[in-house]
Amino acid sequence: MTNADAAWSDLEAHAARLRATTLRALFAADPGRADALSFALDDLTLDFSREKLDAPALGALVALARASGVEASRDAMATGEAVNLTEGRPALHMALRGSCAPLVEGVAEVGGTLDRFLAFADAVRSGAFAGAEGAFADVVNIGIGGSDLGPVMAARALAPDCDGPRAHFVSNVDGAHLTDVLGPLDPARTLVVVASKTFTTQETMTNARTARDWLAASVGERAGAHMAAVSTNLPACAAFGIEAERVFGFWDWVGGRYSLWSAIGLPVAIAAGSKAFRDLLAGAASMDAHFLSAPLARNLPVLLALVGVWRRNAMGWPTVALIPYDQRLERFAAYVQQLDMESNGKRARRDGGPVARATAPVIWGEPGTNAQHSFFQLVHQGTDVIPVDFILAAEPRVAPGWDAMADALADHHAKLAANCLAQASALAFGRTLAEAEAAMAGAPAAEVARLAPHRVFPGDRPSTLILHRRLDAFALGRLIALYEHKVFAQGAIWDVNSFDQWGVELGKQLAGGMLDALKAGAAEGADPATAATVARIAALRG
Ligand code: F6P
Repeated sequence: MTNADAAWSDLEAHAARLRATTLRALFAADPGRADALSFALDDLTLDFSREKLDAPALGALVALARASGVEASRDAMATGEAVNLTEGRPALHMALRGSCAPLVEGVAEVGGTLDRFLAFADAVRSGAFAGAEGAFADVVNIGIGGSDLGPVMAARALAPDCDGPRAHFVSNVDGAHLTDVLGPLDPARTLVVVASKTFTTQETMTNARTARDWLAASVGERAGAHMAAVSTNLPACAAFGIEAERVFGFWDWVGGRYSLWSAIGLPVAIAAGSKAFRDLLAGAASMDAHFLSAPLARNLPVLLALVGVWRRNAMGWPTVALIPYDQRLERFAAYVQQLDMESNGKRARRDGGPVARATAPVIWGEPGTNAQHSFFQLVHQGTDVIPVDFILAAEPRVAPGWDAMADALADHHAKLAANCLAQASALAFGRTLAEAEAAMAGAPAAEVARLAPHRVFPGDRPSTLILHRRLDAFALGRLIALYEHKVFAQGAIWDVNSFDQWGVELGKQLAGGMLDALKAGAAEGADPATAATVARIAALRG
């Protein structure tokens, strides 16, 4: 039996012990668990006290991390080893924020490339680099997956910093996305950034060609000056016709879902400015420094990973709801969805054998309080247990120009925070039948008997509360890096390669044949289901 096997079976013993108790009982036995199970880095605290575990179980989880070689895997990543085994590449997103600089091709260029694309961003903002009719009013990022989700999430999160050209994002190959975004814009004052690591992605290249035609129809030959590109494939950018001075490169050791920190962040820098972008990097770097040095038992990303392993493997809960009580994090769950599910949604171990246990959970979510008025019914009273990550800032970030209404906005924020705490509490402690009946005191007995069962909350439903002072660029960078390293630590524990994504290949390949079939109106040689659907579509189109 390996050390890791022993750690897994120890975990199972703790799980059996804790399954037999409740969060109510755990808090009654140890009211101090709110402090004992909270861990901080500066103003950021992860509070695991509402999770269905205790200090001994957490100790067993830390032992599992150690036995699984999390520290060695982390150090291998930071020193530039080819941790992306299937593609034979390092994974050096930490180098983009200056947290490590191994002797790997391209790493030495990081600072210069950052300066170059931030200088371009500031030139667009100031109007020093302008379009056919003066300064750019709008920037449209065309990209998908990691070339979209990070920038759009960050641009929304940093809305108070966004005093430059308005940032828009087109990702879907559905022409409705492109036309609905471009429709209200003036091409003569619009900059289009084509963002694609490979510069071959069907959706992005299709959108980029149509956007180029849209620009050309308005500004003619000057359309070229309205386009920039971000890619590792510089020859393809040149072939597309984008001048080298507006092409910003990055490196194959930056995974798509880890690329926000590279020139893929250009639209954020154009909208929010180079200072905000550097603050974002600094926030991520502060989490990197902690991740690289803190002991496992106090290492925030590792602990977040371990609580996830506890939920997924020890308790068997298959999904996680990510609920920021912060409207500006409205796209955070979508961002973490790709980060987590594309990284660890795997069934092959690093050596190709089958994994021994369940890997990445389904990640989903929406901001609170909106979530309360849609799916929280099921989270509280449904038949599945859904662990929740709550994210809350202690104070609001008041947008420029709203200082006169600071008191009213403080009231908004107090209500927002109260709702977050109420949800965490209702999930953890629930309401028993006796409490539901007591809450109906004075009502006719028959009415109490009829309704009280519907008003029972089982409780014992876990959540982690991630609390920080305020959502600014630094805090956002730190929060993203927290989840990046969490995903990495889980990948090490599950023994999967978190940096490839073979699961997206087959559909991409098949789409080529489907496109030919749809255009021809017949799918010769296709599977019977596809052939029938193609025939139906052809009939519907007449
Ligand atoms: O289809 C998945 C994927 O390869 C992601 O990993 C990536 O972020 C996205 O497509 C976009 O790729 P690219 O930046 O090369 O256009």
